[in-house]
Amino acid sequence: MREELGAEAVRRCDELGTLSEEAGRLTRTFLSPPVREVQRRVRVWMEAAGMSVRLDAAGNVIGRYAPPGATGPAFLMGSHVDTVRDAGRYDGILGVTLAIAAVDGVRRRGLALPFPLEVLAFSEEEGARFGVPFLGSRAVVGSYDPDLLARRDAQGVSVAEAIRDFGNDPAALPAAEIAAPAAFGYLEAHIEQGPVLESLGAPLGLVSAITSQSRLTLTFGGRSGHAGTTPMGARRDALGGAAAFVLLAEAEALATPGLVATVGQIAALPGSANVIPGRVTLSLDVRHPDAAVRRAAVERMLAAGAAEAARRRLEMEATPVFEHAAVPCDAALSAVLRTALGAMGLTAPSLVSGAGHDAQVLAARWPVAMLFLRSPGGISHHPDEAVLPGDVALAVGAMVDFLERLGGQRSGPAADDATGGASRGV
Ligand code: GLV
Ligand code: MN
Ligand code: MN
Repeated sequence: MREELGAEAVRRCDELGTLSEEAGRLTRTFLSPPVREVQRRVRVWMEAAGMSVRLDAAGNVIGRYAPPGATGPAFLMGSHVDTVRDAGRYDGILGVTLAIAAVDGVRRRGLALPFPLEVLAFSEEEGARFGVPFLGSRAVVGSYDPDLLARRDAQGVSVAEAIRDFGNDPAALPAAEIAAPAAFGYLEAHIEQGPVLESLGAPLGLVSAITSQSRLTLTFGGRSGHAGTTPMGARRDALGGAAAFVLLAEAEALATPGLVATVGQIAALPGSANVIPGRVTLSLDVRHPDAAVRRAAVERMLAAGAAEAARRRLEMEATPVFEHAAVPCDAALSAVLRTALGAMGLTAPSLVSGAGHDAQVLAARWPVAMLFLRSPGGISHHPDEAVLPGDVALAVGAMVDFLERLGGQRSGPAADDATGGASRGV
């Protein structure tokens, strides 16, 4: 059964990969036009797996499956359905289709889990449209604030307006919150997005923690002028300062073990071939498993950038956009997952996730665990992103077995043993 469910999970990712806001490449940002069709198909798949479905004001699709006799807090699974620009087809989406497949597996096997299951298809995780990530999962943990609603995209549309334009009501966001007692944990399956599992020959892995992260916007201000007549020594070229900053951020990351730093967006104004750029805005994304190391590195980058800007007679301004501490996965939930993987003959390695995940937001409210699937070539945030069908089938099997073992634990002390439970594979 797991091969069939795994193949279906992959097929569904490929299908959603055709729903894009840009011709010829996959880009699907927060509440953009193709999202409505994504919501429709996810709803159909959830209903086919026996779930009742609701939509919330943030655009999340939430399916609920209650096995006969199940009561009390739900166990949550899911991931996100938005993408970066020119994305692959599996980042986020696979965690949604796998969660639906796991519910389908539970239903088809008639497993009498003592708790309901909820699958969360988060509307936004990447931050591609508004620069700040997790616009879906933040609604579920009740952490939308007025500053967030006022943030604007490149077209000047605010988050609140985007929600309204989609036909939803920002005033209804508080109703999207899932109260802490209504659930007891969250499992997210996700492609690794890096090379580690492949290098170890491991199809699946466990996430021990999710790295800490800062995002900032930097602005360099100089003076625009004529490209042909302004002598080099008289210029205040903002792009020269920004370019120097990109290289010094790279040098800082190279010199700091475990640190990664990326400038992924840069805009030079006024943006003409024959005009010296007078104003440049760039994004800076810095990550390290240790928040103190990351913070110190960001401070060094900003100090060096400011010194370089002063040398070039430029102004430099840095605005923090997003900051998140490292988030450990829950030891007890991860132990159940490890046992499920072990029962399938897999010695799944543990890794720290360098990517951000919805799990880190939900961890503020519930214990979380994450299952990683090997990424061929370590490629992600790129159209060549891939998964191996056999790995996806193993992931479905592991998730169903995990749920069965969790069910055994929560049924009572007699079954309270991470090594007991599953008797036959999916
Ligand atoms: C999301 O993929 C992130 O890690 O930025
Ligand atoms: Mn993702
Ligand atoms: Mn991503």
